[in-house]
Amino acid sequence: MTPAPLKTRLTELLGCEYPVIQTAMGWVADANLVAATCNAGGFGFLAGAVMTPAEVEAGILQIKAKTGKPFGVNFHMYTPGAGEIIDICIKHRVKAVSYSRSPAKEMIKKLKDAGIVCIPTVGALKHAQKAVEMGADAVVVQGGEGGGHTGSVSTNILLPQVVAALKVPVVAAGGFKDGKGLVAALALGAEGIAMGTRFLLTQESPVPAATKQQYLKTGVEQIIVSTKLDGMPQRMINNVYLQTLEQTSSLGMLFFAIKNGLAFTRITGGSLISMLVNGWKMKQSNGMTLAQTLMAANAPMMIQEAMVKGHPDQGILPSGQIAGAITDLPTGAELMDAIVSEARATLMQLADRFVAPVGNGMTQKKNSLVGIP
Ligand SMILES: Cc1cc2nc3c(=O)[nH]c(=O)nc-3n(C[C@H](O)[C@H](O)[C@H](O)COP(=O)(O)O)c2cc1C
Repeated sequence: MTPAPLKTRLTELLGCEYPVIQTAMGWVADANLVAATCNAGGFGFLAGAVMTPAEVEAGILQIKAKTGKPFGVNFHMYTPGAGEIIDICIKHRVKAVSYSRSPAKEMIKKLKDAGIVCIPTVGALKHAQKAVEMGADAVVVQGGEGGGHTGSVSTNILLPQVVAALKVPVVAAGGFKDGKGLVAALALGAEGIAMGTRFLLTQESPVPAATKQQYLKTGVEQIIVSTKLDGMPQRMINNVYLQTLEQTSSLGMLFFAIKNGLAFTRITGGSLISMLVNGWKMKQSNGMTLAQTLMAANAPMMIQEAMVKGHPDQGILPSGQIAGAITDLPTGAELMDAIVSEARATLMQLADRFVAPVGNGMTQKKNSLVGIP
C-alpha cells in the first residue's frame, strides 16, 4: 500500500511538506527552532511578538541562513513596532504571518497584496468568523488544552464547529503531540495541526535544560489556567511561583507588581514613574485593576526568569496540558519523522480495521481512505 502523502490545502498554502505547524512561543520559537522545523518538513513561526523590529529582521536573516524553506513570523498588532515588522516581513518575502488579535484591515490588505499568507490563532467560533471577515487565509483554532493565553472550549468540541462554519483551511491546536493526534484532527475536518508545547520540548528549543526537565516531570493535572498573571486566562504549570501568586491578596499583588516593576526598570533603564503612568493609562482603557495591569506589564520578566534564565521555580512556565503526556526531547527531525510515520501507520490500521475488502482486497474505499486527505 502506498504511504499517505499527507498533503492538504494547508501544505499547498504554506509550501511545506507536512501539515504540521510549529507555533510562535515568546522567547522559545527562535531562528534555530524555526529552521529545524522547516528543514524537517513542517512550518515554523518566529516569535516576533516579543521582539523589536530589529530583532525580527535579524531572526529572519538567521533563519534564511539555516534553511531555504518557507517560514512565518508572529507579531502582535498592539506592539509599537507592528507596522515596521509588517514592512520587514514584506521586504524579506516571509511566507506567512500569525497573530492572535487581528490587525487593522489595511494592515492585512498590505500583507496580502504582498502575497503573505495571513493565519491568525483563535480560541472561539465567533473570533474565527471575524478573522476570516478581516481577510485571514486560514485559521489556527486553539482549544482550551493549549498553552499560553487560551479559551475555555476543548479542541474536540471547538474544532468541528469552526470547520463547519468556515470555507478557509482550519488548523487544529491545543493538545497535540503525535501522528495519532494529526489523524484525529484530520478526521475532525482540520487540514493540519499546530503545536507549541511539543516543539518547546525538542533539542533545538532554546529553553534551558533545568526548565525543560520541569516540564517533563509535570503531570497533566498540574497544568492549570490562571488569570493571575495578566487578568486573561492563561495555561501554565502550577509551580511554587504561581501558587504564591494565587495566594496573594490584591494589595499584596500591587506590592509584588511594583517590586517586580522596579527590577524591570533597572534592566530596561526606564523609570518607576513612567511605569506607573503607563500602567494607569492601560488600566483606564481595559478595566483591569492597577495590580493586574502592572502584573501584565511585568509578565515578560516573570516568564523570562524561567524560560530564558533557567530558574523554573522563580518564574512563570506557560504550557499546554500536553506537557503532562510528553516524556522525551527529540530533535525536530526525529519528532517530524515520528509524527509522519505514526500518522501513516494509523491511517493504514484504520483502513484495515474498518474498510471491508472486496475482490482482491484493494477496494476503492480502502485506497481513498489511505490516501486522505
Ligand atoms: C511557552 C509558550 C509561549 C507562548 N507564546 C506565544 C506567543 O508569543 N504568541 C502566541 O501567539 N502564542 C503563544 N503561545 C501559544 C502557542 O503559540 C500555541 O498556540 C499553543 O502552545 C498551542 O497549544 P499546545 O501547547 O497544546 O501545542 C505560547 C505557548 C507556550 C507554551
